[in-house]
Amino acid sequence: MSYETFFKELNRKLARVVPGIEMAAVAETAWEIMGLKQERNAVILGHNYMEPALFHSIPDFQGDSLDLCRKAATTDKDIIVFCGVRFMAETAKILNPEKTVLLPVEEAGCSLAAGITAEDVRRLKTRFPGVPVVTYVNTYADVKAESDICCTSGNAAAVVESLGTETVIFLPDEFLARNVARETGRHIVFPTHDLRLKDTSLDIQMIGWNARCEVHEQFTVQDVETIREQHPDTYILAHPECSPEVVAVSDFSGSTNAMIKAVEAVDAPNYLLLTECAMGDNIAAAHPEKEMLRLCSVRCPHMNLITLKDTRDALRHGRYVIDVPEPIRSLAFEAVNRMLAIG
Ligand code: 13P
Ligand code: SF4
Repeated sequence: MSYETFFKELNRKLARVVPGIEMAAVAETAWEIMGLKQERNAVILGHNYMEPALFHSIPDFQGDSLDLCRKAATTDKDIIVFCGVRFMAETAKILNPEKTVLLPVEEAGCSLAAGITAEDVRRLKTRFPGVPVVTYVNTYADVKAESDICCTSGNAAAVVESLGTETVIFLPDEFLARNVARETGRHIVFPTHDLRLKDTSLDIQMIGWNARCEVHEQFTVQDVETIREQHPDTYILAHPECSPEVVAVSDFSGSTNAMIKAVEAVDAPNYLLLTECAMGDNIAAAHPEKEMLRLCSVRCPHMNLITLKDTRDALRHGRYVIDVPEPIRSLAFEAVNRMLAIG
C-alpha cells in the first residue's frame, strides 16, 4: 500500500475523532511503525482502550483481554508489541517464553493488579485449604502463579462454574467478584472486612478480595439515573468492573468486546458506555451512525500512557522488554492455559 492510500484510509476512519490539524503527524508516525513492524517481524496487539489514533492505525489485532490472550498464544512473529498495560504484556510473555514481548511504556500498570500480592494469595490458601483459586487476568505473574485458573471479564462466570466445587476464592476485583456471585447465584464474603468469617457454619460459596478498578468504581447509580432522565432512550452498557448496583440499573454488562458487539447489534438513539472513555471514541470512529454519549472523560491513567510515539520508540529501540522468571512463568502458564482451554 502507498503512503497516500494509507493516509486517505486513516483520515476516513479518524475524521470524527482526531482534529484535522493532527492528522498528518498521526499518519506519519503510524506509517513509520508499519515499516518497523515489518522490518522487525513484529505483531502489534491493541487493547480496546487505546486512543483512537493508535487503535485504528497500527494494531494487527484489536480486542479485549481474552481475545488478545488468544492472539498472543498463536502468533508466529518474533516480537509482540503490547499496546495495553503491564499485566497484559506479562500474559503474552507467559504464553510465549521464547519471543520478545515489548510494552511501550514501562510504568503502564493497573490498580487491580497493584491491589494484591502473591503473599496475600498464599495467606488465603492457608486460611481456606483446598479451595480453588480463580484469578482475574488483571494481576501480575506471581499472583497468577499461585492460582489454579485465570479468568477475564469475558468468561469469569463460566470459569467459576467449570470448577464444579462448592466454594471458590475469586481474586482480586471486589466488584467483578460480586457480579459473578450474583450471576452464578453464590453467596460471597470478603475476609479482609467480613467479621462473620469467624463463624465456620456460614455457607460460604465465594471468597473475594477488595481491589477495585480506579476507573470503573467511579460510575454511580446516580449517573445512570441522570442520563435516563435527560436521554430516556439511551442504551446503557456497564463493564463488570462497575459495582453490582450500577450493573443492575444498566441494560447490558460484558467485557469490552461484548460491549462493542452489543452496540453494533442494538438499534438505539444513543449509547452510554460505563467504561474507559477511549472505547466510546473508537466505536464512534468505526460507526459514525451510532450516537455515543459522553458522561465525562473517565480515562484509565495507565492505558492513557500508551501513544503512537511510544510504540514507534518501542520498535526502534527494542524496549521495554517484559520478562517473567521461572518457575513463576510455568506456574502462571498453567493457570492461563487452563482458562484458554475452557474458552
Ligand atoms: P476487558 O477484558 O473487558 O477488555 O477488560 C480489561 C480491563 O482492563 C477493563 O478495565
Ligand atoms: Fe486496570 Fe481499570 Fe485501567 Fe483496566 S481500566 S487497566 S482495570 S485501572
